[in-house]
Amino acid sequence: MRLDLPRLKDRFGSVLYYGLQSVYELDSGMVSDEMLTGGNNSTLRIPYEKLHTALSNMAIVVPVKGEKLRLLEGVLMGIPNPVQIIIVSNSDRTPVDNFQLEKDMAQNFAAITNRDVICVHQKDPKLAHAFVKSGYRDLIGKDGLLRSGKAEGMIIGTMLAKLSGRRTVGFVDADNYFPGAVLEYCNLYAAGFAMSRRKDHAMVRISWSSKPKVRDNDLYFSKWGRSSIVTNTHMNKLVSSYTGFESESIRTGNAGEHAMTVDLAMTLGWSAGYSIEPYQLVYLMEQFGGELNTDTPAHFNRPVNVYQLESRNPHLHESKGEEHVEKMIEASLSVIYHSPLANDRVKAAIQNELDKRGIRPAGEEIPVMRKYPPLNTLDYATFRETLRGGGYIPEAARDLELRPA
Ligand code: GDD
Ligand code: MG
Repeated sequence: MRLDLPRLKDRFGSVLYYGLQSVYELDSGMVSDEMLTGGNNSTLRIPYEKLHTALSNMAIVVPVKGEKLRLLEGVLMGIPNPVQIIIVSNSDRTPVDNFQLEKDMAQNFAAITNRDVICVHQKDPKLAHAFVKSGYRDLIGKDGLLRSGKAEGMIIGTMLAKLSGRRTVGFVDADNYFPGAVLEYCNLYAAGFAMSRRKDHAMVRISWSSKPKVRDNDLYFSKWGRSSIVTNTHMNKLVSSYTGFESESIRTGNAGEHAMTVDLAMTLGWSAGYSIEPYQLVYLMEQFGGELNTDTPAHFNRPVNVYQLESRNPHLHESKGEEHVEKMIEASLSVIYHSPLANDRVKAAIQNELDKRGIRPAGEEIPVMRKYPPLNTLDYATFRETLRGGGYIPEAARDLELRPA
């Protein structure tokens, strides 16, 4: 893979935002391929060997709820061989047991490719039991099972990634039509980790270069998702309100496709459903920014590199309607609005935005999204012990089960 060099764009305390980096070669060969030509210093080349090492340290979580089986299957095919795949499904089990269909397909894929695929259901009582026993109760709903939602699925996936012994965890949606795009996302995550000097605290967020749509009977490749453009604008306003310089450094406020070190994933707080991706940035600025008095002042001295990489493949996924997008916009802006970092000007701009779009009148209070504490508050040894056996931990990581936490 060959990319732009990373350039630091904005600094919010110890959160370092790098500018958008474009891809120049999806495949830039092996280390030895550039020995003869001497390479060039104007781009960053990540040869196969480095990508492979990073992929071998990675788990990819695929959250799924009622997607077409063929799409999920294509996504699995796009995830490179060295990666540990973790499917977290919240698909309906009645009247048709869709989860069983997904599991059968995943097992078939695992058998054909000789890979160990973890596939769990969000409403599995054993998972709820493991979270309760290890002291992480906020995720439990009234029915005693784990709550629904994409972020909630990601929390489960992150814990399973930790159990698998992998050092990084990435997320890829299950409704992607192009397996080749999924392959590119995974390689971009690997490239981001390969370029990071901070091995403990790094995050890689993908911005799609295009999203194909049909407009006037023609294909149109739009750049920004309808939600992203709004979230990015207000996230940049939040950054600018502290730096004093108008900024457009944040391009990935809603990046569903993103990855981070497991260490960082265990340190971050969570916000429900589709508000999770913008909340990651808000949480980083709150806890690592040095502007607020927090319980974790030690974070102020732990730089977090946030890389934003622009994928080349078009992103084509299932279209889920206007109301879905409006909900996503409100959920995203809610986490900025309710952050103690947001000043009156930032809040007023958000209220105007929601009012202008007919999502919520300016006079009405914006609902607060449910929050979950960082996963490092959970008793990991108990969690692991509770899930021992039963297919939650990949075969290759079994010896980790025997090691102390
Ligand atoms: N496990 C689980 N549990 N997965 C879920 C749930 C749930 O309750 N709800 C949705 N998912 C899965 C979907 O099946 C899909 O694979 C993925 O989460 C994303 O959901 P979509 O409904 O397809 O979201 P989207 O396409 O509108 O938005 C995506 O892109 C946004 C950026 O434009 C998401 O990734 C957003 O989080 C992201 O902000
Ligand atoms: Mg989608």
